[in-house]
Amino acid sequence: MHFIFREHLSENLNIKELQNNLEGLPAKKVLSFVLSKFGRDIAFASSMGAEDQVITSMVAGIHKDIKIFTLDTGRLFQETYDLIQKTNSRYNINIETVFPDARKVEAMVKEKGVNLFYESVENRKQCCHIRKIEPLKRALKGKNAWITGLRSEQAPTRSNIKVVEWDEANELIKINPLIDWTEEDVWDYIRENNVPYNKLHDKGFKSIGCLPCTKAVKADEDARAGRWWWENQGHKECGLHKR
Ligand code: ADX
Ligand code: SF4
Repeated sequence: MHFIFREHLSENLNIKELQNNLEGLPAKKVLSFVLSKFGRDIAFASSMGAEDQVITSMVAGIHKDIKIFTLDTGRLFQETYDLIQKTNSRYNINIETVFPDARKVEAMVKEKGVNLFYESVENRKQCCHIRKIEPLKRALKGKNAWITGLRSEQAPTRSNIKVVEWDEANELIKINPLIDWTEEDVWDYIRENNVPYNKLHDKGFKSIGCLPCTKAVKADEDARAGRWWWENQGHKECGLHKR
């Protein structure tokens, strides 16, 4: 029944039409459009990264009631927690922190150890699954659409993503307002609008995830080179954006 409803939803909302309406529009216009179209049925997933901070500043200027959530894996940097607090007070919002199922984390750690992710890709994916993918599904339950800060430049796996997509894994519409933005666009916006950002960015961190799986990179290195750096390039997605 649930499946039929979702299939129906995807047809009714007509992804192609939405895509045609939104393609090429400035990010703020995309956000205004989807926030008014979906109302409480849309949520924004923020990792507290630079892109997401741009979106938060735009969203807060349009509509403060939208659900903004961050997946707290339990392994984040202190700087990321500091930024959650700072962003909440700066924009007068309340970013929801979504936690993994404690019993599943306990069982995984008991079986494989606290730092299991360094031992194999399989272990790393299991950790991301329990600490991120499952909580994401819970956070999106009942929603018809979600907003992300994905940019096509970030990785080869993201190069053909569009502003509007059908998210097969979570069975809802995905809106990527910054898909065409460059890294420079992001930082220009942050500077011009005095948007709070993670202090680790000033210390050579480009893309920031969990502490044990993120390191600083050199200026000329790829933004995602510091994520799961011990793995092959091809593995470098945690599964939140399966396509
Ligand atoms: S990841 O898949 O490698 O972790 P990345 O850090 O590039 O993703 O972030 C891409 C987008 O995924 C973010 O803009 C955000 O929308 C979503 N996202 C990633 N991590 C989180 C998180 N911890 N909490 C909420 N959303 C997240
Ligand atoms: Fe676990 Fe690392 Fe994935 Fe975070 S990024 S959920 S610590 S494997």
